[in-house]
Amino acid sequence: MRGSLLVDNIGELVTNDGRGGDPLGVRRDAAVLVEDGQVAWVGPARYAPAADRRIDAGGAAVLPGFVDSHAHLVFAGDRAAEFAARMAGEPYTGGGIRTTVGATRAASDDDLRATVGRLRAEMLRQGTTTVEIKSGYGLSVADEARSLRIAAEFTEDTTFLGAHVVPAEYADRPDDYVGLVCGPMLAAAAPYARWIDVFCERGAFDVDHARAILACGQAVGLGVRVHANQLGPGPGVQLAVELGAASVDHCTHLSDADVDALTGSETVATLLPGAEFSTRSPYPDARRLLDAGATVALATDCNPGSSYTTSMPFCVALAVREMRMTPAEAVWAATAGGAAALRRTDVGRLIPGSRADLVVLDAPTHLHLAYRPGVPLIRQVLHNGVPR
Ligand code: NIG
Ligand code: FE
Repeated sequence: MRGSLLVDNIGELVTNDGRGGDPLGVRRDAAVLVEDGQVAWVGPARYAPAADRRIDAGGAAVLPGFVDSHAHLVFAGDRAAEFAARMAGEPYTGGGIRTTVGATRAASDDDLRATVGRLRAEMLRQGTTTVEIKSGYGLSVADEARSLRIAAEFTEDTTFLGAHVVPAEYADRPDDYVGLVCGPMLAAAAPYARWIDVFCERGAFDVDHARAILACGQAVGLGVRVHANQLGPGPGVQLAVELGAASVDHCTHLSDADVDALTGSETVATLLPGAEFSTRSPYPDARRLLDAGATVALATDCNPGSSYTTSMPFCVALAVREMRMTPAEAVWAATAGGAAALRRTDVGRLIPGSRADLVVLDAPTHLHLAYRPGVPLIRQVLHNGVPR
């Protein structure tokens, strides 16, 4: 949309500008000028420049749009019955991934595209303006490539997760499957992918296979992210740090050495409390990571098996209630933290030059996101400066 737009009468503006001692960079009685899809100016409302159009925030809180740095949106079918069984006491093993692989392979491109579009729209309504989308339910050369081709229609942050699990037809030959992933599958996927990811866990890929696959991805220019330490302790977190991964995700079971490795590294610990909610597992200890000085992000992990939510406000509320994060830490992790996990400096903050992605809450402060769980508090979303 052309012309300038002023969002003013903002009671509490979360900028994440990193200035002073306040990580959220909160400003009161503020205004934001948007031009050409970017933030052009931030300052006190009384000094706001003139603009072509105006949004009156009515004294409400305004935040950067949420950055959901971990989502598996390209799939078909659902696993509601598996969820019901878990709530009745069954454990989560990841074994259901193959069920979704079968449904995804059988779906048409248009069906997959419609599902991604529906979930992306759900996200936007709940304030998510940046999303990472993984493949990982195709697990054949053609199905991984088309998953990423479809994902790339919706986001720049596409992730090749051919190493999600070993598909049934390779069950007896995992080495051959790793060869397929590193060879023809990577070649077909890489043109559509920014990142490579591996599920490094007992029952998925061991540390040697994970290292080999991630190294192949790095060699063709993909950035590294890792699923690790979700179902139990393991070497995945330290592998991620060793390879300079942008993010290691789940981090539910961490040793002291894992926490030490993350602290002072460039690797963000991305916590996915929707997965613990939906698998009835113990939540990761965010407080331990934060107190040690690690960078923490929050994301939904939206997928039909372990976390079928698109809601970042829900994850913020869980992080505060169940993971001992303060509301300010959780909001930072869901915005600037997600941006760090995607190594992006254009989103997750509201400073001159950032993308004009912002959320007007139906609430006076960011505290209400955790204080009023389950309540639709997203009044308005601007994405690239355009009201949605
Ligand atoms: O991040 N952990 C591995 N992958 C997904 C779950 C996938 C599924 O159960 O379908 C996750 O939780
Ligand atoms: Fe995941």
